[in-house]
Amino acid sequence: AANGNKPAKTRNIVEKMEESNKNCVVFYGSQTGTAEDYASRLAKEGKSRFGLETMVADLEDYDFDNLDSLPEDKVAMFVLATYGEGEPTDNAVDFYEFITGEDVSFANSSEPALGNLKYVAFGLGNNTYEHYNSMVRNVSAALQKLGGQLIGTAGEGDDGAGTMEEDFLAWKDPMWTALAEKMGLEEREAVYEPVFGITEREGLTKDSPEVYLGEPNKMHLEGTQKGPFNAHNPYIAPIAESKEIFTVKDRNCLHLEIDISGSNLSYQTGDHIAVWPTNAGKEVDRFLNVTGLLSKRDSVIGVKALDPTAKVPFPTPTTYDAVVRYHMEICAPVSRQFIATLAAFAPNEAAKAEMTKLGSDKDYFHQKISNKYYNIAQALEEIGGGQQWTEIPFSAFIEGVNKVQPRYYSISSSSLVQKNMISVTAVVESLDVPGRTDALKGVTTNYLLALKQKQGGEPNPDPHGLTYDIMGPRNKYDGCHVPVHVRHSNFKLPSDPSKPIIMVGPGTGVAPFRGFVQERAAQAKAGENVGKTMLFFGCRKASEDFLYSSEWEEYKQALGDKFELITAFSRDGPKKVYVQHRLKEHQKEVNELLLQKAYFYVCGDAANMAREVNTMLAKIMSEERGIPETKAEEIVKSMRSANQYQEDVWS
Ligand code: FAD
Ligand code: 2AM
Repeated sequence: AANGNKPAKTRNIVEKMEESNKNCVVFYGSQTGTAEDYASRLAKEGKSRFGLETMVADLEDYDFDNLDSLPEDKVAMFVLATYGEGEPTDNAVDFYEFITGEDVSFANSSEPALGNLKYVAFGLGNNTYEHYNSMVRNVSAALQKLGGQLIGTAGEGDDGAGTMEEDFLAWKDPMWTALAEKMGLEEREAVYEPVFGITEREGLTKDSPEVYLGEPNKMHLEGTQKGPFNAHNPYIAPIAESKEIFTVKDRNCLHLEIDISGSNLSYQTGDHIAVWPTNAGKEVDRFLNVTGLLSKRDSVIGVKALDPTAKVPFPTPTTYDAVVRYHMEICAPVSRQFIATLAAFAPNEAAKAEMTKLGSDKDYFHQKISNKYYNIAQALEEIGGGQQWTEIPFSAFIEGVNKVQPRYYSISSSSLVQKNMISVTAVVESLDVPGRTDALKGVTTNYLLALKQKQGGEPNPDPHGLTYDIMGPRNKYDGCHVPVHVRHSNFKLPSDPSKPIIMVGPGTGVAPFRGFVQERAAQAKAGENVGKTMLFFGCRKASEDFLYSSEWEEYKQALGDKFELITAFSRDGPKKVYVQHRLKEHQKEVNELLLQKAYFYVCGDAANMAREVNTMLAKIMSEERGIPETKAEEIVKSMRSANQYQEDVWS
């Protein structure tokens, strides 16, 4: 929000550190909040274990041409996520271009420019992508080239292998040892110092107009909307239509039509829509209960940053309920480090001992917590043995539980066909966990499912008893709405529709291809020359989860034999058939199309499918062209760099 009367904030990090008495800055380059979270954790740990005066900084908030004047007794930390195909996160683009630029220059002109700079670095990446952790690798190389001194090693966390948290923990301990030695820091008994001060505001109630109750966009909720709508200001969009396109036992797939007309939002075929969820009432109650806050859930609280460099991550005054319901990712996996931090506030000695053990023993933690997919409240319930954890300062939760993040969906419509209506195709997450009676329910997809049920006007809006309180009590809208913004992607059709395309999208991976085919069908109807349009789709059974099965017929009418749908039903026959097997069966045609410069697209599961399709494609080219597989793999790589091979994948 704009804060009109305050003096402009400095963009000079050295000045900022001097004026706030800091000797350690933790910069983050973050897209979904994980890197930001790790940065805060490093800052906290530096302070509590070593008495460092730390601050956290968004890379976007500073300039870097004076990094050369950071004094020798200070240290900079970089926590950098790599995004998509080796790109910096949005907030790190300027920094990245500056530091890796050919003609990087600094305010002073000593040589080497960053000879005084001590830094540590950790990267967040995903090894299923080709440019694994390229941000931290390239930034660290650039800093060293300029004379910067890396302390410890540049850590690399791997989301692809699912080991991010453990990679981080394994990296940070030796890093602290090296840093302590370099800077002459003494380790002390960790003392918890709250970053935020909480005061109960007796004079206010939750009906007082100035009290924030979780509305995603207050003005908008009260009827005056103001754009531009983006990640900082989501648009509360009407859901024009919501239906289940398949329902098999506990698996449902939703198709939504989200109306963006009049919002000034726009999208292009292949973009993503971000949906901002609300936590399920059941989980909010669980959290408030185990922390002893249930009876005070609607008490009004003021929250103030005790450290001038920290920001309160939500508007205040507010209520415990609103913060927990709309701002904290309370259902996410718990981190081992957070459990260790909370040991000091255990309700009894047994719980304290258990928390300490969990915090220090990785295997034990897996067995007791991770393997059961417990969230923080479930973990506290289990460990506390029924006792409430009333000693934990609420600040510890604001610091230690991530901020709610929007979830992204590949838009499944064409902007040419429906400019103001965004289609979403989402499978509702529900995971049976061994050793647990209740299934793990995905936050956003179950929220969308509940909205659907509400929209239909059915008496029970919520089949799982999750109870959603959507957008807070001040919600003046009729019908169902959902806060969204659009994120532009590079996953795009060739600008010339006569170019052939090959699409591989099993499961919900078919989402953007529905948009692609819809677009090409419209172009064909308009008399344009449309090239071959081949779609490989896979699902379990033709009769169960075959997405848009009747729609494909319509597109076929428009595109004629230009459109070819090839299906792989993995559970209909005696043995598994996947899209890559079908690709192999059609290898001759696939290869010929590629020689005609067909674009090749893969969407869906990043962990296995996307990689296996890549491998299969290389194999096909090798066989068809009579070249070694290594050569074919190189061709696939060069197709990727030329954007002829595009991926839209998630794990
Ligand atoms: P979440 O609550 O986020 O849970 C998701 C998973 O996290 C769970 O299944 C579980 O594995 C893990 N998890 C959650 N809580 C815990 C816990 N306490 N302990 C351990 N593990 C836990 N999805 C679609 O259906 N359609 C699309 O078109 C689509 N497009 C996407 C495009 C992009 C670019 C990206 C990044 C993702 C896309 N997704 C799509 C996935 C989507 O963004 C969501 O991740 C998905 O819908 C699940 O969200 P959720 O909030 O329901 O589940
Ligand atoms: P399965 O669940 O029967 O193994 C959509 O999820 C489809 O993708 C399902 O038919 C699923 O099959 C299939 N699938 C699972 N793993 C895959 C992989 N590694 N490559 C391609 N398809 C896969």
